[in-house]
Formats: sequence, structure tokens, C-alpha cells
Amino acid sequence: MRRTCEPELMDDGLQASAYAAADFSAGDQAVLERCVAVLAERPAARRQRLLDLGCGPGNITFLLAERFPAAQVIGVDGAAAMLQIARDRQAQDPSRWRALSFVQGLLCGTGLQSESSGAAALAAGFDALVSNSLLHHLHEPQVLWQALPALAAPGAAVYIKDLRRPVSEQAAQTLCERHLAGAPEVLRHDYLASLHAAFTAAEVRLQLQHAGLDQALQVNEVDDRYLEVWGHLG
Ligand SMILES: C[S@@+](CC[C@H](N)C(=O)[O-])C[C@H]1O[C@@H](n2cnc3c(N)ncnc32)[C@H](O)[C@@H]1O
Repeated sequence: MRRTCEPELMDDGLQASAYAAADFSAGDQAVLERCVAVLAERPAARRQRLLDLGCGPGNITFLLAERFPAAQVIGVDGAAAMLQIARDRQAQDPSRWRALSFVQGLLCGTGLQSESSGAAALAAGFDALVSNSLLHHLHEPQVLWQALPALAAPGAAVYIKDLRRPVSEQAAQTLCERHLAGAPEVLRHDYLASLHAAFTAAEVRLQLQHAGLDQALQVNEVDDRYLEVWGHLG
């Protein structure tokens, strides 16, 4: 099946609310555990600044902040609608999430662009770069691969998870029925669009080669619909 891009940002209020209301907790927890495992590969490495790229409503960002209470955890997303939901969640218990911040920023050819007041928090030197379900949104995937070394501290851990593109339209429909039966129509529509926009593991390996990251980062297929990219930079 050929790749069909979808809009990069999830900036529609209805779309953002439907996404935030969906229960992705099992998948989110699995992402957290893999992040912890990748970080544990270098026990002596710093874990002071962690960045969640394309954080959406903050599902993974909050889990990271809970698991690493001594770290400064930052979620960045280009969509104001998503960030508003993340900040509203944070505001429900501000003392619990003191070391957490959400910043509006856009991944683009030169890295992260932000004109928001919190932009200084996005300065390079992150000890971990994490991203869930961002890659397939990017029209030009090198934007992510080139941003990683620019944002990373030496030895930074990377963990990225995303959907992978099925072989056919029929296979995409089957996945949608299997995993989103009974979900709201807006979510099913977005899920199918995401499957069409996703990359295959082979495509991601080529992207990493072009970015010069293929020695540092590995690509795996996970379950029936995901791929993960992980490793350490420098
Ligand atoms: C499917 S959501 C995933 C949200 C979150 N990572 C999670 O796991 O729940 C993808 C997010 O990436 C954001 N995004 C897409 N392209 C982006 C870009 N170029 N720069 C910043 N954020 C982007 C979208 O706005 C959206 O919130």
C-alpha cells in the first residue's frame, strides 16, 4: 500500500478531545516500560532532562514525570488544542507535576522551532528523547531524525514508537476492526488515516541510514501494527 500523508498537527479541538478521551493506557504503559529499559542500558547515564516529542495531551509525558520524579520532563507539540488539554490535566494537580512543562513547538527542518514563552526549556542537551505516534504525522521524516542529534546530550537515550503501514487497504481495515471496534467514528477515521500515513520498518531503516543514525539506533517490528526505534546517541 502506498503512503498517504495526513495533516501533521492535530489542532482541531474535536479531534484532540476524542484522542484525549480514548483509553490508550495499555499502550502508553508499554512505551514507558520500554523507555525505562532503554535508559537502564546505561545505568550511569544522566536522567535530568527528558523530552517527549509530539506529546499530544501528555499521556506519555505524565508517565515519564511520575517514573522519573527527579527529572525535568518536557512535552512539546505543535498543536495548541492538544497542549491545552495537557496543561488542563497538569493544572488539576499542580504540586504533583512541578517538574513537568508543556511547550508549543514545531519540528521542522532545523530542529524544534518555538516562539512560545517556554521555548528556553527546549534548549539542546536532553538525556532522553521519547516519542509515541509522531513519526507517521511527519510529511518529511528526516525532520525527526535530524532533530534527534541536535537535541540530544552525549549518550542520550532514544525511544520512538509508531504505527507501521500495513501491506494493503484490506489489512488496514482489519486492524481497525480488531483494535478500534466500537470506538467513536472520528477516532476510527484518524486511525485508518494514520495507518495509511505510517512507514514500514524497512523505510525507517533507510531513513536512519540517510541520517547517519543506523549504527546508533535499531528498528524492530512490534506486535501486529507497531515499530519501535531505540538506542543511544553518541
Ligand atoms: C497521534 S498524536 C500522539 C500524541 C502522544 N505522543 C501520545 O502518545 O498520546 C501525534 C501528535 O504529534 C503532533 N505533531 C505532528 N507533527 C508535528 C510537528 N511537526 N511538530 C510538533 N508536533 C507535531 C500532533 O499535533 C499530535 O499531537
